[in-house]
Amino acid sequence: MKTVGVAILGLGVVGGGTYKILTEHREFYRRTQNVDISVECVLELNRQRALDLGVEESRICSNIAEVVSNPSVDIVVEVIGGVEPARTFVLAALHSGKTVVTSNKELFCKHWFELEKAAKRTNAGLYFEASCVGGVPIIRTLVDGMQANVVNNLTGIINGTTNYILTRMTKEGLDYRDALKDAQALGYAEKDPTADVEGYDATYKLSILASLAFHTKVPLDKIYREGITEISKQDIAYGEELGYVLKLLAIGKNDGQGEIEVRVHPAFIRKDHPLASVNDSFNAVFLKGDCVGDIMLYGRGAGALPTGSAIVSDVIYAATHSDSKYATFKNTQQAEKGVRFVSDFKSRYYIRFTAKDRPGVLAKVAGIFAKYNISIIDLIQKGEGMENIPIILITHETGELSVHRALEKIAALDDVVEVNSVIRVGD
Ligand code: HSE
Repeated sequence: MKTVGVAILGLGVVGGGTYKILTEHREFYRRTQNVDISVECVLELNRQRALDLGVEESRICSNIAEVVSNPSVDIVVEVIGGVEPARTFVLAALHSGKTVVTSNKELFCKHWFELEKAAKRTNAGLYFEASCVGGVPIIRTLVDGMQANVVNNLTGIINGTTNYILTRMTKEGLDYRDALKDAQALGYAEKDPTADVEGYDATYKLSILASLAFHTKVPLDKIYREGITEISKQDIAYGEELGYVLKLLAIGKNDGQGEIEVRVHPAFIRKDHPLASVNDSFNAVFLKGDCVGDIMLYGRGAGALPTGSAIVSDVIYAATHSDSKYATFKNTQQAEKGVRFVSDFKSRYYIRFTAKDRPGVLAKVAGIFAKYNISIIDLIQKGEGMENIPIILITHETGELSVHRALEKIAALDDVVEVNSVIRVGD
């Protein structure tokens, strides 16, 4: 039976889960995969943490040189997160000809080109299933399962922390701050939640997924990003009255003619959309292929065992395939020539503004929208008898720039107190 040695860099939540799966399922993999995978060493500065997990003292390394010079190590699992020192460690492993399995989306989306080049040089494998959507096998689906298709749409809820926060705001009417505190207490959100709540985490994943789905590099700086920090419970409640649920969506569209649209932002989706029922910290990705039609993958996007599941699936794949596997697109640092990234994308819009309750206000607002060729689908006016009233409307599909120009004019009207919110509707 083939024997394969693994090193794990970092024994935090995901590294610990990976260690547990690999050791507890070792016999199962021997039986079902015909391969004996042993954890040869771990790189962990907190020795007690490693000992508590059951790692033998002699297998705890304190620097990367010890790991990459160990001839029993074939596969290096990087679960440190962040760019450095992970990048240096991963490059050291690849330069030594060791296959790398990583869950590091930030490292991968920013340095994919460099890592793949290093891997090709030594014919090492480079696997990253766990970098996107945790335990959900989205990379394998795109790379191995959907290769018959032209994928022209990928829409996902790919950040569990923000989905948890929005679900609590929706179901319990919590304020953003209170929902965030609960997410932090439960360990979903970090003490500094910026990466999740401002949408950075989702853009890292979208950059990787869209590159694979559309077979061209989708650099991070081409992705429009907006987080959930400005979302109010009032908008969620008004949206609900109109039949919508608010989600932080990651959207990738490819028109097949060289135009790609990639964006991460809060969006209202209709309650009967398949993504509307993806709640709490769950993730889901909705894909459209020209042959298969619609596919939706759903599951846990984070956590020790779900993310460990994705890592170990890569370890087993690498252990049982002798040919190294690289991404299936021409990996370049920038998008290929001829690809155009759309910035004035089209959407429907939910708009809330506060106006003085006087005759003629709506006519003036409607006049401005008409001037910019924006047509209104739905309108509700609240707070009868109050001096200043909230007005909520939904537009037909229109361009981003037109909406912003129209809203500047609306905000300047004497009768309009404030434009409170602008949220995109639909995917
Ligand atoms: N922080 C991420 C999330 C999990 O909330 O989905 C790891 O990517």
